[in-house]
Amino acid sequence: KAGLETSLLGREILYYNEVESTNSIAKELAAKCPEGTVVIAETQKKGRGRMGSEWQSLPGGIWFSVILKPSVPLEYTAKITLVAGLAVSKAMRELGVDARIKWPNDVLIHGKKVCGILTEVDAEVEKIDHVILGIGINANVRQSEFREEIREDSTSLEEEVGKPIDRIAFMKQLLFELEQQYIKFTTQKFSDIVSEWISLSDTIGKEVTVTTPVKIIEGKAVGVTDKGALLVKTKNNVREEIIAGRCRYSK
Ligand code: BTN
Repeated sequence: KAGLETSLLGREILYYNEVESTNSIAKELAAKCPEGTVVIAETQKKGRGRMGSEWQSLPGGIWFSVILKPSVPLEYTAKITLVAGLAVSKAMRELGVDARIKWPNDVLIHGKKVCGILTEVDAEVEKIDHVILGIGINANVRQSEFREEIREDSTSLEEEVGKPIDRIAFMKQLLFELEQQYIKFTTQKFSDIVSEWISLSDTIGKEVTVTTPVKIIEGKAVGVTDKGALLVKTKNNVREEIIAGRCRYSK
């Protein structure tokens, strides 16, 4: 904890060598733990990705979850997702790499994924009770260690920086950035977050195919709204606002 420059995030840090999933632990403990509690592990046996996928969590990476308890309506979930992607990109850019955010919240360097974020919300009657922000960073991991299906599309900070990074120093910076963005979010300065998110976006201006539970939308990503939704202009010139979905680049 020494040297943390935060007042909320990391007030409690639960450190494990090996767990099934830090998100699962954080979920179980959320009711009992103060806001800002961090659950972090050296490796995960059952790291969870978005849409039920498995998340490979090799030793040398940074696998953690933060328990947040914002008093906001459920529809703010998409905004929290943007907050996390922005904070991770900003912390990585301090290392001198060109980290960019793929909507909603993958962080890429040179088009390859270096971080995944899994936001899980527990809500009661349309009001958020707590949010588990799960962040997985390929820090000191070699590309050759990734499982074959993801190897080509994945990278790590070690690969991009050219040497292993100082994970503790990076974590301090990341919690600092996350807290800064989270304060903006809770004090309703969302337009600041959106404009910075757009400036670091890998998605805006690209042709995309977005799959949502109800439809598939193809077109050009043209912006992000104040609700955190992706704006896509389709071939028929219709502007679609997509609050959640899976985004693929078409070209
Ligand atoms: C994705 O599919 O891109 C999201 C991956 C999220 C992985 C992180 S690692 C820490 C936390 N615990 C989990 O089980 N998943 C998240």
